Amino acid sequence: LDNGLARTPQMGWNTWSSFGCDLNANVILDTTRKIVQYGFKDIGYEYIILDDCWSDGRNATGYLQPNMTKFPDGIKGLADQIHDLGMKIGIYSSAGTMTCARYAGSLGHEDQDAAVWAEWGVDYVKYDNCFNEGEEGTEKLSYDRYNAMSMALNKTGRPMLYSMCNWGVDGPWLFGPTIANSWRITGDLIDTFDRDDPQCPCVEKEGLDCKVPGFYCSLMNVVNKVVYFPSKAFPGAWNDMDLLQVGNGAMTDEEYITHFSIWAAMKSPMIMTNVFAEIDARTLSILQNTAVLAVSQDSAGSSATRRWRYFVNDTDSFGQGEIQLFTGPLSGGDQLVLFLNAGTRDRDMNATLEEIFWESGVGGRAPQVREAWEIYDLWADRLSNAQAAGIIAGNATIPFNMTAHGGSPREVYAQT
Ligand code: GLA
Repeated sequence: LDNGLARTPQMGWNTWSSFGCDLNANVILDTTRKIVQYGFKDIGYEYIILDDCWSDGRNATGYLQPNMTKFPDGIKGLADQIHDLGMKIGIYSSAGTMTCARYAGSLGHEDQDAAVWAEWGVDYVKYDNCFNEGEEGTEKLSYDRYNAMSMALNKTGRPMLYSMCNWGVDGPWLFGPTIANSWRITGDLIDTFDRDDPQCPCVEKEGLDCKVPGFYCSLMNVVNKVVYFPSKAFPGAWNDMDLLQVGNGAMTDEEYITHFSIWAAMKSPMIMTNVFAEIDARTLSILQNTAVLAVSQDSAGSSATRRWRYFVNDTDSFGQGEIQLFTGPLSGGDQLVLFLNAGTRDRDMNATLEEIFWESGVGGRAPQVREAWEIYDLWADRLSNAQAAGIIAGNATIPFNMTAHGGSPREVYAQT
């Protein structure tokens, strides 16, 4: 959406995975202060987003009102305090009669709700899909509901980032780019890696509704879906792979590094959902890898694409493993290269310059193959990122020693 917002994927924090309905002004302000103190604001994290359960329904004149026990100063009061801390505030509703947690939804109240959010000083709206009264099943039905809020937000004159949360239903990557700044492509990501985790039967095929069957998705479910439409992402309009589960406890550090790296490479919004009162140094260091964030926030705004995917015969309780290569252009002519080892054994992987620069669809090899390139490891030397990890040219390959469930991006620079 060309509203001047989200020219790079939005970054911030959302209440949902950590606090659910147990949110209030104190928790949110404490978190905001910590986010600022820890330096997250300085590296681009910007939005503090209230998810479901902030509301107390509508008042006599039909305006949404906040739960005054949770938010004694109202949302306006909270917004002022968040703004004073230098951050922006997001709010949540549904394109239905109720939100997923059964608070008042905005279907049919779009103008009134957008107006009150603007008056409160809201900067961001996450717009869910619960209780849509059957107004889905075709692209037009979903478009109409989501476009109504897009128009209403626009009418207020206040810039509000518009984040569609319709779980991939009816192809939001088809109608989203013109009406919203981002759109969810699947059901909810939960804190688990494997695509065959029995807890996560989320379907991965393009066009399928992940809500039924299998609303909850593993990291690999989401990765194996976003690869269908990298070209739908561009400045102002992004595929949303859902909240960052990094540090929430159920995955290994290596898996969280993979998670963070792929979200950056695919230009997903980077929205944390941690409990900051309990955050550890390791989690901080992953969420604050500025070399990887530079990929996410690269001004070219091009999502990486998957160059290949092979199944591998790792046997464990989840069955078959797989390995994948992603590459993508960065501004200034550099190239991102990301290996994903979703198998359960460590393995050596490598890629040639031909694979990295192959221009799919063009049927040819890019001329860059003839040049020599410097390689940087975005996790090995993340503070300065100054030390080239090697140089490749001609028919050489970039070698990767990949840990099980590892996803390691390398950035490849033209040699000066
Ligand atoms: C849906 C959304 C989640 C969250 C909850 C809130 O499940 O997909 O991201 O907003 O609703 O109820």
